Amino acid sequence: MEITKVGVLGCGLMGHGITQICAQGGWEVVVREVSQEKLDGGIGKISKQLARAVEKGKLEQADADGVLARIQPTLDCSDLGECDLVIEAITEDLELKLEMWKEVDAIAKQDAYFATNTSSLSVADQAAVTSRPERFLGLHFFNPAQVMPLLEVVRAEGTGDDAARLGFELGEKLGKTTVAARDNRGFIVNRLLVPYMLDAIRAHEQGVGSIEDIDTGMKAGASHPMGPLTLADFVGLDTLALIADVMHEAYAEERFAAPPTLTRLVEAGHYGRKSGQGFYDYSGERPEPVELDA
Ligand code: CAA
Repeated sequence: MEITKVGVLGCGLMGHGITQICAQGGWEVVVREVSQEKLDGGIGKISKQLARAVEKGKLEQADADGVLARIQPTLDCSDLGECDLVIEAITEDLELKLEMWKEVDAIAKQDAYFATNTSSLSVADQAAVTSRPERFLGLHFFNPAQVMPLLEVVRAEGTGDDAARLGFELGEKLGKTTVAARDNRGFIVNRLLVPYMLDAIRAHEQGVGSIEDIDTGMKAGASHPMGPLTLADFVGLDTLALIADVMHEAYAEERFAAPPTLTRLVEAGHYGRKSGQGFYDYSGERPEPVELDA
């Protein structure tokens, strides 16, 4: 099936990036949010990134204008009715996703494909509440979606061959490296990356090193682009805690349990970079590590 119009549900951290790369890939994109403020925030980030690319000479102004013109922001789910593929990137909450899929299933074209960008929830559980499990797959992008090369293509129990093929073709069109992942909690990358970030938090709790030294250690000692605590802030501590809970329940292994510091920070509304504070304070010129209670 030829894709001409893509729908994206959610214009937050992941949704705005997916919207941008799909529009840059040449597709018309309808992006839906639940509030004008969130919609404006996501579209504002896309405009800023396109402007920066033009400034750097990496993109012509006319092409940047073309990308923005292909994006239709909306608050109305029924605007997704003509989309050939709908990708969801809303909050990592199964109940919310199931409600949303039921709504979208009722208005989407009969032959439209659905994809979830979930980091940790079951693809099959989401497919099951729609009328099209064979057209449902997981497409897991990484943050920032505009930069990170990987796309995990997740085939659930009922995903058909056409849908799986569509996932790999879409990745290729977007210039992503694709890998096939099974529909287990966390797929490949988060299965390995989440316990690593949680372990870094536990290492800090146990006094192994300061926030900065743990991050510097993994950057300089293992050539990671970001240290694990910076990365946790970057992913979003609220999202990390939700993923940890899902994986802990699924695997019943202590290494997936959210450490007390993570729970405390989330309860205090410190979600990392997006809220201005997490393991670091982002209000100044450069991020400063926060003094955390023992
Ligand atoms: N949107 C668009 N472009 C961005 C961007 C963003 N949010 N952030 C950075 N970039 C671009 C910059 O414009 C720059 O582009 P050019 O090379 O064309 O100039 C390029 O990326 C490099 O950026 P910077 O020079 O500003 O900074 P950097 O070299 O430190 O790279 C980074 C930034 C790409 C984020 C890098 O630090 C990195 O790779 N970090 C690790 C990120 C990571 O591990 N992501 C996965 C998170 S886990 C996940 O997503 C899974 C999940 O489900 C939780």
